[in-house]
Amino acid sequence: MENQNINEIYSSAMDEIGKSSTSEKLQELKIKFLAKKSVLMSLLSALGSLPPEERKEMGQKLNETKAKIAKAIEEKEAELRKAELEKKLESEQIDISLPSKRVELGGQNPFYVVKDEITDIFLNMGFEVADGPEVETDLYNFELLNIPKDHPARDMQDTFYISDSVLLRTHTSPVQAHTMQAREGKPIRIICPGKTYRRDDDDATHSHQFAQIEGLVIDKDINIGHLKATLELFAKKMFGEKREIRLRPSYFPFTEPSVEVDITCANCDGKGCSMCKGTGYIEILGGGMVHPNVLKMNGYDPDVYSGFAFGIGIERVAILRYGIDDIRKFYQNDIRFLRQYRKKA
Ligand code: DAH
Repeated sequence: MENQNINEIYSSAMDEIGKSSTSEKLQELKIKFLAKKSVLMSLLSALGSLPPEERKEMGQKLNETKAKIAKAIEEKEAELRKAELEKKLESEQIDISLPSKRVELGGQNPFYVVKDEITDIFLNMGFEVADGPEVETDLYNFELLNIPKDHPARDMQDTFYISDSVLLRTHTSPVQAHTMQAREGKPIRIICPGKTYRRDDDDATHSHQFAQIEGLVIDKDINIGHLKATLELFAKKMFGEKREIRLRPSYFPFTEPSVEVDITCANCDGKGCSMCKGTGYIEILGGGMVHPNVLKMNGYDPDVYSGFAFGIGIERVAILRYGIDDIRKFYQNDIRFLRQYRKKA
């Protein structure tokens, strides 16, 4: 009777182990067949009440059965673990032959290409890069550049005001004043690339935000020949060796004399075409000899020092260089525009 009972327990255990498909189920079976409260274990603990001759045989049988069940569970566990691992490996398999999603390569904005090129040209001539704030005071943006309150030159440079005396700078020229004050009378040879702002309607040729590169050289015996030679070298490096420049008299409150610098039109080589409106020249920048008042106000003795300054519109140079028809394209980040300026590998 007991023997039959053990055989039944054994075969039902083997049956259930065979059918289980998860390790959780196996855990349950372990408890059901091998834990203290299982039938098998209660039979074991009841051995003592059997007559000694039966006790030995029965004990052996029970222990063997228990060991066989435990072994079967262990083997099944290993089998399941292996199957689970294989399933996991299968599901995480990477098909390296699948075509990948194409990552579109952009192009560097031509604005930055040109800004870096201009900067490099001047660095190679021995200039340093200086910096200044975009939120400026009236003092630096105007007064220290010889543009007092009510000066008519202010009309062309209306901007965004933060308070009566704090504004977004209308040009990079205030960096001239900052640099002169910081250098305290020592020679200067700097450029300053940076953002500038004006109250302008945004259209193909105007933007409320644009960028300039300011240049300033101060030393003893600096004359307008230095200005011309520097800007001529810049024009040739930027637009090609064949380009020539011409200086036209102009007016800026912070320079005296002041000039407008034109280059011969690259489109027609100076003969006259629609791009240069028949003149053969295209205006590229403004400059001049630093006004004695500006030198004086910023700590330089005009009887000892002289200097020249210039301001270049970065977008303007980029527009001429690449034949771009709308200034707004620099700021829109449109991939169809940028793609055209992708550097060839
Ligand atoms: N600041 C001028 C402007 O924005 C450009 C300029 C002209 C800068 C002559 C200069 C200069 O340094 O000498 O219109």
